Amino acid sequence: MRLSLRFVIPLLLALAAFAYIAVPLADSLMLRWFVRDLDMRSSLIATTVQEPLSSLIVTGSTPRIEGFFNRMLQDERIYAVGLCLDERKAPIATSQFPPEIRCSALETYADAGERLLRSKRGLLHLAIRAVDSETMPDARLVLVHDMSFVERRSEETRRYLFYFFIALGACIALITVIIAQLSWRGWVHGLRALLRGEGILRPTRSTTAPELRPIARDLRELIRDLERQYRPLDGSQRIWDQQALRATLRSELHGNDVIAVSNREPYIHVRTPEGIRLQHPASGLVTALEPVMRACSGTWIAHGSGSADRDTVDRNDRVAVPPDHPLYQLRRIWLTADQERGYYGGFANEGLWPLCHIAHVRPTFRSGDFEHYRNVNAKFADAVVAEAKSKDPVVLVQDYHFALLPRMIRERLPEATIIAFWHIPWPNPEAFAICPWRRELLDGLLGSSILGFHTQFHCNNFLDTVDRMLEARVDRESFTVAFRGQSTAVHRYPISIEWPPAPLATAKSVPDARRAVRERLGLPRNHRLGLGIDRLDYTKGIIERLNAVARLLEIEPRWIGRFTFVQIAAPTRGTIDDYRDYAARVRALAAEINARYPHAKFPPIVLLAEHHEPDAVYEYLRAADLCLVTSLHDGMNLVAKEFVAARDDEQGVLILSQFAGASRELPEALVVNPYDADQCATALRFGLTMSTGEQRDRMRFMRGVVREFNVYRWAGRMLLDAAVMRQRGRFRVAEGVSSHG
Ligand code: F6P
Repeated sequence: MRLSLRFVIPLLLALAAFAYIAVPLADSLMLRWFVRDLDMRSSLIATTVQEPLSSLIVTGSTPRIEGFFNRMLQDERIYAVGLCLDERKAPIATSQFPPEIRCSALETYADAGERLLRSKRGLLHLAIRAVDSETMPDARLVLVHDMSFVERRSEETRRYLFYFFIALGACIALITVIIAQLSWRGWVHGLRALLRGEGILRPTRSTTAPELRPIARDLRELIRDLERQYRPLDGSQRIWDQQALRATLRSELHGNDVIAVSNREPYIHVRTPEGIRLQHPASGLVTALEPVMRACSGTWIAHGSGSADRDTVDRNDRVAVPPDHPLYQLRRIWLTADQERGYYGGFANEGLWPLCHIAHVRPTFRSGDFEHYRNVNAKFADAVVAEAKSKDPVVLVQDYHFALLPRMIRERLPEATIIAFWHIPWPNPEAFAICPWRRELLDGLLGSSILGFHTQFHCNNFLDTVDRMLEARVDRESFTVAFRGQSTAVHRYPISIEWPPAPLATAKSVPDARRAVRERLGLPRNHRLGLGIDRLDYTKGIIERLNAVARLLEIEPRWIGRFTFVQIAAPTRGTIDDYRDYAARVRALAAEINARYPHAKFPPIVLLAEHHEPDAVYEYLRAADLCLVTSLHDGMNLVAKEFVAARDDEQGVLILSQFAGASRELPEALVVNPYDADQCATALRFGLTMSTGEQRDRMRFMRGVVREFNVYRWAGRMLLDAAVMRQRGRFRVAEGVSSHG
């Protein structure tokens, strides 16, 4: 209000000054108009009376002339009329004719152009007109008009003008106050929004006012400075989501040139009798990395393994994905059947996979397979170099299929930031020593800037292995390895899932999911349901799980016909004997356990050995009373985290193997040793009778962990660490010390 008064008072003063000048001006203007009117009127009257007056002059009768003049006075404006026939005589005039107007002085009035006379009566207008008379050629008609009305009008005008200016001033003042108040409020609102942090990164409606933009810019800078100064370098105190990850990438690594490399592709196009169908693979790696790539954009290079993959790429073997809302590019690499058999089926999955997992399957190493492995790694290295938009891209190398790739990229893109992540366990040095190409693999991995594992235990194993097998400097303080003039940080980054998981957005309610699943399986509404979701892999402990169910029915027969365990088992690596054998054993065991209870109304085991899309998987996760994750050895196991994320009803019991990395983060689960059937059966019994309150308490805890330690944090922390390394590397280069990444 005070601010508005500051506008209004000067405005009113200006208006008053304007009125002070304008009123006299209007007065004199009006007077001039009236004088001109009366001049014209007088000329008109003089012309009109010319003839009768000339005739009267000829008669020489003064009374008749006076009578004529008196009749003229009926026009209320004419005050007096006079006629000067001789300048030495008095005029023949009406009674009010002002005595000061003498015939002898008429010429003076005319010469001076004076037309106004102030008399006792007031202001008078004087008009002297010649009369066209043959007998009296000097005759002059004097018409006197009363101009007092002008003064009256001027008085009125002044009053009106006064009121007009008052009204105008009031209107302008009111409008000014309203506008000032509105813009002031808008400004204050915008400023407050800025101070609350809204619109600093992205303009909002309240902060887009042009006058606020410089302030927003300054605040942005200030916040960045403060962030840089006070940010914990490990990102532990951030809330990680898609935006945070994207912002980290842009601010810390200055760009979007992100390239991910994995064997498994996130979208597989398969040919079916109904046409080309899109398939989401059953892969923890894909589950985790896909949301990260959606946030980071860039390019994901992967093996094109789908039967219709070649039909869906462009001429550069790229396809934009997700297909319904593209956010990044998928670059497909084609492998020959021999390459696939040697690199993927052979070296990766018959060699490294059993080598790294303690699942009592012997690794098989063949030099031919390693040859393929090396060639395929080189092929992917070519693709990375081709896809890189800059000399220092961020390359995310995924998993044991690409142990040689980091070094190959490093040699061709020395400034790249290479983050390799090993999704499976790393064995102890004795076990790793089995591999004939152990040194090549270690050398390859040490081409990375950062090498990540799920657990500290696997980091320790890796450092021990390097220490034992290479001439490298291992720093156990900072967990770095210096090798071939380069430094690699070996850190623990427990992988996770996106929060909230995408399938949840379209998922059925928990009661609907329970009903739908039980109906589909032909089970009654209150039938208790246990669930396992895995690839049909011998490391997943599916056989141990089935045995645990069988043991439960032995020790607590009341569950026969009242509890069913559903195993969703996605076929996997079917070209490998060990996998085919395992699948057959699982099928046989499930059938054998069911056969033990021929009279049970409902089977103890339902085995669904086929691929399920994420929506279907989430329906089962929401429908189950228990979820069993009994891996014999597992880097992390994301099914455990997906179960927790799917249960927004805070119900459901997770039974989790102590040999899965996830058990380190989710101790509120019922943690079991999968080799101990009795313990697992007890956990099942305990889970089936756990109160809803206890289920809620445990589930809440676990959901809090998965929410906070989501996959954006996993990727974000690696990117932050890479950024710090990059910065330190620049300092070292400036000091003349060789470094990379
Ligand atoms: O655990 C290692 C891993 O690469 C996972 O990331 C993924 O769940 C699984 O193996 C995928 O296996 P594949 O790609 O051979 O089907």
